[in-house]
Parts: sequence; structure tokens; C-alpha cells
Amino acid sequence: MTYRVAIIGAGGIAGKHLEAIGLAEKLVPCSIADIDRRRADELAALYGIRAYADYKEMIERERPDIAVVTLPHFLHKEASLFSAARGCHVLLEKPMALDSAECDEIAAFVRASRVKLMVGHTQHYIAETLAAKEWIESGRLGRLVLLNDRRHQRYDVPGRPGWFFEKAKAGGGILTNLGSHSIDKIQWLTNSRVTKVKAVLDYDSPIGDVEGGGTAFLETSAGIPATISQSGYLGAVVDETELRFTGGSLLLRTGAGLWVSDGGAYREAPVPPRANPFLRQFEDLLEAMEEDREPACSMAYSRSVVAAVESLYRSHETGTEVSVHGREGF
Ligand SMILES: NC(=O)c1ccc[n+]([C@@H]2O[C@H](COP(=O)([O-])OP(=O)(O)OC[C@H]3O[C@@H](n4cnc5c(N)ncnc54)[C@H](O)[C@@H]3O)[C@@H](O)[C@H]2O)c1
Repeated sequence: MTYRVAIIGAGGIAGKHLEAIGLAEKLVPCSIADIDRRRADELAALYGIRAYADYKEMIERERPDIAVVTLPHFLHKEASLFSAARGCHVLLEKPMALDSAECDEIAAFVRASRVKLMVGHTQHYIAETLAAKEWIESGRLGRLVLLNDRRHQRYDVPGRPGWFFEKAKAGGGILTNLGSHSIDKIQWLTNSRVTKVKAVLDYDSPIGDVEGGGTAFLETSAGIPATISQSGYLGAVVDETELRFTGGSLLLRTGAGLWVSDGGAYREAPVPPRANPFLRQFEDLLEAMEEDREPACSMAYSRSVVAAVESLYRSHETGTEVSVHGREGF
């Protein structure tokens, strides 16, 4: 059994999905759509598939089994609903939607359409993050007591599409885009959900109306405290999560490796090699489709990430600690 896959949006991340489809035994790419037809044409030529300017026309004509939505955040809901209504399973890029109300609409519609929707929270498939999760679950360093996640990198890099700087289209700036990865990482590693947030954001970005950085104190449903600190201004690039346990610590640098200490200086920990994260993401969706169950990275889980991100802004605006709203059944 093979499944035909269509890509909606031919921007920065689309190629990663097409590359992964090429590695998957059960997947066959059929087409790609982008309002910037030139972009769709380029990727279509590279992968030998059809190009469209209008994704709705593409879905109607191609009737793919799976639609991969790689659009700006404000279009996630529209494209997911359109695809689900035509019987397509959906792999939706993170974050699930602009806000938790949109996530609820997507979830209700997708369930009624009897298709599967999985959000691409890639952190779950990154080799060193998986190795860190194994350390936590093995208990070898004792009990996990806190996490500090720091991500600093210039956000207004040349070439970043303009919609990333418009709150109405992106939902927010660095703390929405990279913050959703950080919150996902914290929730997934601790096997719990963010329940409380106190955040102070900074708005000095030269472009658009989104924040340029900020710091947040979070508490999870397991009672574990965590901080997220992100700056999109100039300065040294940092991407690391430190996990402190009762009997040691871990330093996780995504894309670089994992370090461990049981009292002395950090030493590099072995990280077993894993298959391409985007391929493993597809495999999870396929299993959910074939076994007619929610993917591990479910709509409820993905909504919880959006709800926590949303709470960062609410906390900053009100100057108070806020509770992250869950929802009955989620
Ligand atoms: N998982 C990850 O690590 C990761 C990395 C990068 C981006 N992302 C996510 O992927 C998504 C896309 O990000 P990107 O960096 O590729 O953005 P992008 O702006 O490069 O690509 C989006 C594309 O959508 C097209 N588009 C806009 N409106 C359209 C419409 N109505 N119909 C068809 N095409 C339309 C644009 O022309 C553009 O080519 C976002 O949700 C982003 O957060 C995830």
C-alpha cells in the first residue's frame, strides 16, 4: 500500500518534507502548490511532481491521501479544514494554529471528517533529544528537578519571510516560532503539560509588531519548574537546554550533541544515530492512519503547546502569572 502526498506551501521547510517522502517506502509525492508559482515550479521540477498556484485546485484534482501543510500560521486552520473535508489526512507544520480556539475548531472538524491530523513537532525525533529523554526515564541521574532552555539567534535574518513579523499572520515572534519548539521540548521531556506561566517580553524588533525576545518561568503539571529565555537580537548564538537532576545534570544542544555530569565537568554522552526526523514524523502519521488511532503527537497535545505559547503573551500583557487553559477531553 502506498499513499500519495501533496504539499501545500513551497517555502523554506517544504523541501525537508519532500526529501523525507523520497526516503519513505510507502509514500509517493504527487504535487505541490504555492501562490508564488515560481517556488512551486522549482520544487516540482526537482522532485518530478506537478505544480499548482492554487492549493484548493490541487487538492480537488489530485485527491491525495495526505496533505502536508507548510503555510504561514494564519493559514493552518483554513488549509487543514479544506484538506480534511476532502478526505485527506494532514501533516500540519507547527504551531498547530494561531491560538487555542483555532486548535479546537481544527480538532472538532478533523474528528468529524474521520481523518488523522498530526502536527510536526520535530523535537520528538531529534537524536540528542531522544537520548536526553532516555536518560530522564532511566532514572540514572535521579529525579529531574528543573530545566533551563535558552535560545538566542538573530530573528530578522535576511530572507526571513515578512509574515513572520506580523502578529496577525504569525501569532507572535520568536517566542511563537522557536518558543513552540521550546515548550514542546519541555513538555515532551517531562511527560507533562505547562500549567502556569509568568513571562516578560521585549518589543524592540526593528520589523513588524511582534516581540523580539523574552523570558518566561513555567511550571508543569508534574510540578517541574522550567525557564525559557529567547532573544532575536544580535549576539552570540545559543541553543541549549540544561536539565538538573538530584544526581547529575544534562546539557542538550540540539544539532550538536548531549553532555552529562554526575558531579564533575560535563562529558559528551553517546547519542545513538536515528533516521531522518521528518521521515520518522511521517512514519508516526502512517501508523496512526493504519491503526485508526490518534498519532503520538496528537491534536490535544499540539493544542497544549499553542495554549502555553498564548499564555506567554497573556502573562506579559497582564503582568501576572497566568494559568494555561486546558480543555475537557484534551
Ligand atoms: N519543524 C520545523 O523545524 C520548522 C522549521 C521551519 C518552519 N516550520 C514551520 O513551517 C511552516 C512554514 O514555514 P516556512 O519557513 O516554510 O515559511 P515560508 O514563508 O518560507 O513558506 C510558506 C509558503 O507558503 C506560501 N503561501 C502563502 N500563502 C499561500 C496560499 N494561500 N496558498 C499557497 N501557498 C501559500 C508562500 O508563498 C511560501 O512559499 C510554519 O508553520 C513554520 O513555523 C517548521
